[in-house]
Amino acid sequence: MAFKERVFSGVQPSGNLHLGNYLGAIVNFVALQERYDCIYCVVDLHAITIWQDPAELPRATREVTAAFIACGIDPKKHIIFNQSQVAEHAELAWIFNCVARVGWLNRMTQFKEKAGKDRENASVGLYVYPNLMAADILVYRATHVPVGEDQKQHLELSRDIAQKFNNDFAASIHAHGYGDAFFPQPEPLIQGPATRVMSLRDGSKKMSKSEPSDYSRINLTDDADAIAQKIRKARTDPEALPSEEKGLEPRPEADNLVGIYAALAGQTKAQVLREFGGGQFSNFKIALVDLAVAKLGPIGNEMKRLVQDPVYINGVLADGATRARVLAAETMNAVKDIVGFVR
Ligand code: TYM
Repeated sequence: MAFKERVFSGVQPSGNLHLGNYLGAIVNFVALQERYDCIYCVVDLHAITIWQDPAELPRATREVTAAFIACGIDPKKHIIFNQSQVAEHAELAWIFNCVARVGWLNRMTQFKEKAGKDRENASVGLYVYPNLMAADILVYRATHVPVGEDQKQHLELSRDIAQKFNNDFAASIHAHGYGDAFFPQPEPLIQGPATRVMSLRDGSKKMSKSEPSDYSRINLTDDADAIAQKIRKARTDPEALPSEEKGLEPRPEADNLVGIYAALAGQTKAQVLREFGGGQFSNFKIALVDLAVAKLGPIGNEMKRLVQDPVYINGVLADGATRARVLAAETMNAVKDIVGFVR
């Protein structure tokens, strides 16, 4: 059966949005608006799998919303909302808790990384987080999911859950007139030259919200001075830049900065190296500062302006949630019939 093409993705309101979120995900969210109906979600239910200060969470939720809008997502043509306003996410996640297998979740590397050594003390929510993520996508029967490289394994799990649901309930799906499959296999869209942006301090670590050193990342709200300082201090090696992409392979810091430049400029790494290959890092960094400030400065300013208008942002989220709820309720009603719940 052909499914209607639809894009879904989410971003957690759990701290500073950074260049990794922007280049790995949000830039692609913006581009996909031209071709698809898109649903972009501020995933607050996911955020609380790790403790969030209730006095801070609303601001963080509005800041991610502001980033979506400032980067160019149109909340009228598409849907922007926060997850907790659409109860069907949690409802479908429960059903998926009963579809997914413990063995599948035990393989999730992000749980292992986030729970660390103190696994016994991690929240149960953190463990079943990928089931909620599958519910986010499949409650809209979304077909395409733009994400950074770090979400690939979670997307594979979503596909496994969709498939197992379709298999387990095949007879009921058929009996209710949904053909051979109720859920699509959502396709990850992991695109561009910066699908995994690394820390500016250590090319072997992912750029992340939770890294203690602010010098490891460029935040979307950083001003021009902060961006310039962080890029100037970014770790590099003493060699000149290579002229060919192959020369970046053993040099993670150089690879990262070239990838960032390419993504910001809308070029490939090969194009960037054609221009800067053979030159010193100092010159390349000057060009990178100029480019980053030109691209990110206006976004940061617009975000700061928007978060000062919480009434407007709350209105965008409420409107998006109303529209999302209609779609989610339709899926959930069908799922209840398929599973055999009386309604
Ligand atoms: P989150 O909030 O950690 O990150 C949001 C998006 O940013 C991408 N990203 C990166 N991309 C490149 N380099 C980096 N260093 C980097 N850091 C983060 C992430 O891959 C992501 O696309 N579980 C998700 C949120 C989520 C979701 C969903 C996504 C919940 N439900 C359903 C897609 C579909 C997460 O924690 O993203």
